[in-house]
Amino acid sequence: MRLLTVLICSRRGNAMGRKGVAADAGFRYAGVMSFAALGQFPQYRPRRLRQSPALRRLVRETSLRAGQLVLPLFARAGRKVRVPVASMPGVFQLSPDEVVREAAAAQAAGVAGVILFGIPERKDEKASGAYAANGIVQQTARLLKRGLPELLVLTDVCLCEYMSHGHCGIIGRNKSRGVDNDATLALLARTALSHAEAGADVVAPSDMMDGRVAAIRQALDRHGFSETPILSYAAKFASAYYGPFREAAESAPKFGDRRAYQMDGANALEALREVALDIQEGADMVMVKPALAYLDILRRVKMEFGHPTAAYAVSGEYAMIKAAGAKGWIDERAVTLETLLAMRRAGADFIITYSATEAARWLKEG
Ligand code: PBG
Ligand code: ZN
Repeated sequence: MRLLTVLICSRRGNAMGRKGVAADAGFRYAGVMSFAALGQFPQYRPRRLRQSPALRRLVRETSLRAGQLVLPLFARAGRKVRVPVASMPGVFQLSPDEVVREAAAAQAAGVAGVILFGIPERKDEKASGAYAANGIVQQTARLLKRGLPELLVLTDVCLCEYMSHGHCGIIGRNKSRGVDNDATLALLARTALSHAEAGADVVAPSDMMDGRVAAIRQALDRHGFSETPILSYAAKFASAYYGPFREAAESAPKFGDRRAYQMDGANALEALREVALDIQEGADMVMVKPALAYLDILRRVKMEFGHPTAAYAVSGEYAMIKAAGAKGWIDERAVTLETLLAMRRAGADFIITYSATEAARWLKEG
């Protein structure tokens, strides 16, 4: 008999690493896993449990439910406005009334919530639109909470959509023209607070400034929003997969790129440090982004910290599946669901995806 013992334990030996983490998403065996008791062929035949749909369902390790999906929506001024995003079929820039319509459809399909992005009418050098009391996200959040009180409203907290230069923070005065981390924190905190005041259920900073979670937590707590959770885009990589989003959100940087603040795609240990810092600063939930090309990071983050963890299936991931699907080269529905399941299996408790409503409907159909 083979004696194959797999040790899964955290190298740093934190509490969660040894005891086992979530009951789902393949973490039941965190701890010492032994295959010693397993027979060998022909006694042991894995195919026995694959014979029928009912048997397969019975031993399925990972679930994917509509309630684990969050839909990103892009809000812009107007009424009855739906501007299609060319690189993301099925995605639109929507006026607030249309956001509510789209959100209602998502809710009817069982989707947990929406995450709002805003396209302001004017941009400037200090992202005024990001924290304006009547900014586009604030207006839309209010309308959503009034019309659909049960649906979770998350808000993306960043400045890039509101900055004339398209960067995620204040540009410093030194000649490097980089984003000034510390000067940006106050604006991010102000933005998050204005979202909470407008009724956001969760604020989600995506800027990648150091110390922003602490700054936001402090601002929320000081103004009576100690109950508002923070979902931190903790491990957010500088990624070419954000291309279609920047068209949708009109947020491409006018010069340079985001590599001086978003993470280098080569770094996994640094991602764990980023997550550790954000948890220490008070992040209630952490996110890995993008998802598909970073499933290993997702896995490690969940194993190491056991914290509520999100995956963001980003615009480029969506665009690739849609494009190949439209050509008839892949089965769009099957590939979408398989991909979302992979994110859950890797360790995501929930997934932000442009396919949320469609996927929720497909899951219902079975
Ligand atoms: C803003 C932000 C971006 C995304 C989410 N929030 C773009 C970026 O960082 O350039 C990307 C989402 C997507 O591609 O779907 N900071
Ligand atoms: Zn940004």
